[in-house]
Amino acid sequence: MSSKIIIAIDGHSSTGKSTVAKELAKHLGYIYVDTGAMYRVVALYALQNGFAKDGEVDEFLLTQNLKNIEITFQYNASLGFSEVYLNGVNSESEIREMEVSSYVSKVAVISAVRQKLVALQQQMGVDRGIVMDGRDIGTVVFPNAELKLFMTASAKTRAQRRFDELVAKGNSSVTFDEVYHNVVERDQIDSTREDSPLVMAKDAIEIDNSNLTRKEQFDYILSLVATKI
Ligand code: DC
Repeated sequence: MSSKIIIAIDGHSSTGKSTVAKELAKHLGYIYVDTGAMYRVVALYALQNGFAKDGEVDEFLLTQNLKNIEITFQYNASLGFSEVYLNGVNSESEIREMEVSSYVSKVAVISAVRQKLVALQQQMGVDRGIVMDGRDIGTVVFPNAELKLFMTASAKTRAQRRFDELVAKGNSSVTFDEVYHNVVERDQIDSTREDSPLVMAKDAIEIDNSNLTRKEQFDYILSLVATKI
């Protein structure tokens, strides 16, 4: 009998982590957790309550109110993955909007936020059989994960992917330049923050998918999984 493992997928924004993580979880019958969605939910809460405005996040007020934020996931069978809920409200679509994207890195630097979310993430992995994607999964959340992947792609490739996604969702007001600058700004904040910066775990396998098809990438990752289970 094969044993269930933990698969940690880290990397910059829009490297296709969540797409591959979802596919992998489905293929293996594992749980998939999008930790970026959890940080986005906290940013959404901060926006809704006036703790994020004029480009700044009020760390004190947000920290004080963290206890009022309940984050849950519910499996949506027709989509084939779990959607994120903020205090019982499905927030999957709102958290992908540019306004949330523009504050989320500033929310993710706050240590109290990270502590709360990391504890939740570790709880979700107690039974193993999980694919989790984010920035600190292989380094902080599950340093003992059996398989750690670190996904990369050029900033231009990633901005184009995010831009195409937004356009496909009907967002006609956003420009490529705005998306590109947001990608570069988030890379900078995520990689240089003091608490759990985005770095590749020593034992992670780096995958640059700028020139890989989805299938090539998936087959390669499956071959890596096969060596672990
Ligand atoms: O993967 P994403 O773009 O949805 O992530 C949104 C933000 O959340 C990103 O700017 C960095 C932050 N994040 C983090 O700090 N740690 C994680 N484990 C996941 C996301």
